[in-house]
Amino acid sequence: MKIKNIAILTSGGDAPGMNSAIYGAFCECQKNDLKIFGIFNGYDGLIDNNFIELNYSFLSGRINRGGSILRCGRSKRFLKSNHFKLAITNLKNNKIDALIIIGGDGSLKGAMKLRDNGINVICLPGTIDNDLNFTYTIGFDTATNNIVNSIDNICDSLSAFNYGAIIKIMGNKCTDLIDTVGKAINTDLLIKSNDFNITNLAKSIKSNNDGNHLPPIVLVLENSANIENLCEILQEKCKIQFRPHILGYIQRGGTPSAFDRRYGISAGKLAIQSILDKKFNCAIGFDNNSLVSKSIENCFKF
Ligand code: F6P
Repeated sequence: MKIKNIAILTSGGDAPGMNSAIYGAFCECQKNDLKIFGIFNGYDGLIDNNFIELNYSFLSGRINRGGSILRCGRSKRFLKSNHFKLAITNLKNNKIDALIIIGGDGSLKGAMKLRDNGINVICLPGTIDNDLNFTYTIGFDTATNNIVNSIDNICDSLSAFNYGAIIKIMGNKCTDLIDTVGKAINTDLLIKSNDFNITNLAKSIKSNNDGNHLPPIVLVLENSANIENLCEILQEKCKIQFRPHILGYIQRGGTPSAFDRRYGISAGKLAIQSILDKKFNCAIGFDNNSLVSKSIENCFKF
C-alpha cells in the first residue's frame, strides 16, 4: 500500500504545543509529497465528516499559538456504535491511510478502538495533565510555567497584606502538575486528595508564618477540596486571611514554551516518518531525553 493521505485531529483538553505538532506533521508531509487533512472538533469531526486539507494559508500565523487550530472535543457520540461506524466509514471514504491523534488518555483509548477496527493510528501525547506514561506530555511544560507565573503575580499582592492563598490546580487524577509547581515555588502545602488532615495543615502554615517566609500558599488538586470552605477553616485556625484562587484555563491556554514547540514539531515529523515506515498503532512521545515510540497499551498511568 502506498501512503498518500494522512489525517490528524486533536482531542480531549487542548494543550499548548498541539499546533506545533500539527505543523511538524504538515511540514513532513510536504517534504514527502503526502496530503494531510485536519479533522475539526476531535472525534466528533470524524463522525461529522468535518475534514479540511491543510495548507500554508490555513496554518500561517497560527502555529505558535496555544489551544488547537483544529479545535478539540470530548465526544460522547464516539462511544456509541452507530456513530463510531460512521467515523470509520468517513475515514475510508476519504481514503485516509493513517490517522494521527493528539490527546490524553481518553483520546488514546479512542485510538485503540479505531486500531481494533482496522484503522492505522499514531498517537501523540498532548495534555497538560502529564497523565500518560512519558516523561513529559506536550503542554505540560507550558502549563507548569503558566501556573508558576500566575502564582508569582498573586504573591505580589499577598505579600503586601500578609494574606495566604489557596490555589486550585488542574491535573485531573494526576499529581504531576501540582507536584512540579509545588517544588518550583518551594511549598509542601499540597492537598492532593479528599483524605487530608486539616489540623496538620494548619500547624505547618502557622510554623512557617513568622514573617521571614513567603505568604502561605496551599495548592489544591482539583476535586480534592472546596477551596472557599478551606479558606474559612484555615482563617479560623491560623488567624491569617486566606484568599481562594481558581486559575482555570489560564493554566491550559497561552503561547507554548520553546520546549513544547520543539516537542510538538519533532513528534509531528516523527509520526509521519513512522507512517512512511509502516510502523502504525503506536504512541510517540518524550521519554528519558529523546522521542520514543511505544505501544498504546503501555501509555496509561491510571
Ligand atoms: O485534561 C486537561 C484538563 O484541563 C484537566 O486538567 C481538567 O480536569 C479538565 O481538562 C477540565 O476539562 P474541561 O475542558 O471540561 O474544563
